[in-house]
Amino acid sequence: MADLMESLTSLAKRRGIAFPSSEIYGGLRSSWDYGPLGVELRNNIRRAWWRSMVQLRDDVVGLEAAILMSPRVWEASGHVAGFSDPLVECLNCHQRFRQDQLEGPVCPNCGQKEFTEPKQFNLMFKTFMGPVEEDAAVVYLRPETAQGMFVDFRTIQQASRMKVPFGIAQIGKSFRNEITPSNFIFRTREFELMEVEYFVEPGTDEKWFEYWKEQRLQWFVDLGVRPEKLRIRAHEPDELAHYAKAAADIEYEFPFGWSELEGIANRADFDLRQHQEASGEDLTYFDQENERRYLPFVVEPALGVDRALLVFLLDAYRVGEAPSAKGEMERRTLLALHKDLAPTKVAVLPLSRNETLVPEARRVHGLLKPRWPTAYDDAGAIGRRYRRQDEVGTPFCVTLDFDSLTDRQVTVRERDSMQQDRVSIDMLSDYLQERLGP
Ligand code: GAP
Repeated sequence: MADLMESLTSLAKRRGIAFPSSEIYGGLRSSWDYGPLGVELRNNIRRAWWRSMVQLRDDVVGLEAAILMSPRVWEASGHVAGFSDPLVECLNCHQRFRQDQLEGPVCPNCGQKEFTEPKQFNLMFKTFMGPVEEDAAVVYLRPETAQGMFVDFRTIQQASRMKVPFGIAQIGKSFRNEITPSNFIFRTREFELMEVEYFVEPGTDEKWFEYWKEQRLQWFVDLGVRPEKLRIRAHEPDELAHYAKAAADIEYEFPFGWSELEGIANRADFDLRQHQEASGEDLTYFDQENERRYLPFVVEPALGVDRALLVFLLDAYRVGEAPSAKGEMERRTLLALHKDLAPTKVAVLPLSRNETLVPEARRVHGLLKPRWPTAYDDAGAIGRRYRRQDEVGTPFCVTLDFDSLTDRQVTVRERDSMQQDRVSIDMLSDYLQERLGP
């Protein structure tokens, strides 16, 4: 199973999906860059999330808050005092670890069993605003996007005239100085969050907490993740974040074991209350129908783009066999990505670089390109080209052969079944639209 992480990391680098940042300088452990196909995949994940969380709903609106916020935000939110992990150092090799992630009291680096007493290590990155490096100028890189929704709650509610229950959605970079970044893009120090803060009437929060757990689990299933690889685990009282009344993780069975994929928290009115007290501003909501004023409770589904991307890749990764041009069985690596996530939707492949075939294939490519991200590849044997597309999850390959020049038809091959249909060029866009959507 651990091999799966290795195979995937190597595929991701070879095909320009994701690879270590600053690699020519030896990399910066825990930062990753996303290449051409990775960018498309990330955009597709963000789009699928936004579509389900904002576009298809009437009760959620968007926000893009600044990454740098007033340091008072992080004091009020409890992050300055409480956003920390227990850090221990091995007394033998001096490597540092998160105490709660050690498997028994054994150093994963040298095997010795003696550690320093745990020290709380704050995970927020600090920097200085303006040209002076002094305490008064300290600002933090946000460790979550959520605080933007809380401090802008009143402005957004009034501007969009939303009535509770309603939510504010945001996608954006977040930063945590993780003690032990690990497992490719699973835990990194810079990552992107997709969060909704869903404001509800106190007393209805538990119902909404259940609702969001179901909705979020279904989102992964709808995007093709195998249900048996997903489960929901409630947090024990001693693992709850400082702001949470209750929390649950959607977990995925990674090659390194069941781990958190997405967090759903019932934050009660912790954040709005803290900001109301610290800022002196009234953040209550007036329910006109019932003539009642209250501080809403908040239920929050929060998912990392990078972690979602890792799960979609892991879950879609298959190794099988396919016949070569000579009819011999060959190894085939496949990313069986959901069509909405696939970075490239169609590839146009002329059978050869023949001078009459190529212009026609280019024309077909030009026809499809405005509709879907479409690749063109005329290099190498056709079997090899199919393999290249399978490996990055392209749902359809369109092949032009010499008959295409006379019968005006192409062969469309579907990725998972490898079934082939002969389709007229005139009908090709309709054929693909039926299967890929707009
Ligand atoms: N606002 C609540 C919040 O941030 P969280 O459980 O700390 O909750 C939410 O994080 C999600 O963000 C996680 O379930 C995971 O998908 C992602 N995430 C958190 N820390 C991460 C890290 N260091 N690297 C990559 N993704 C991370």
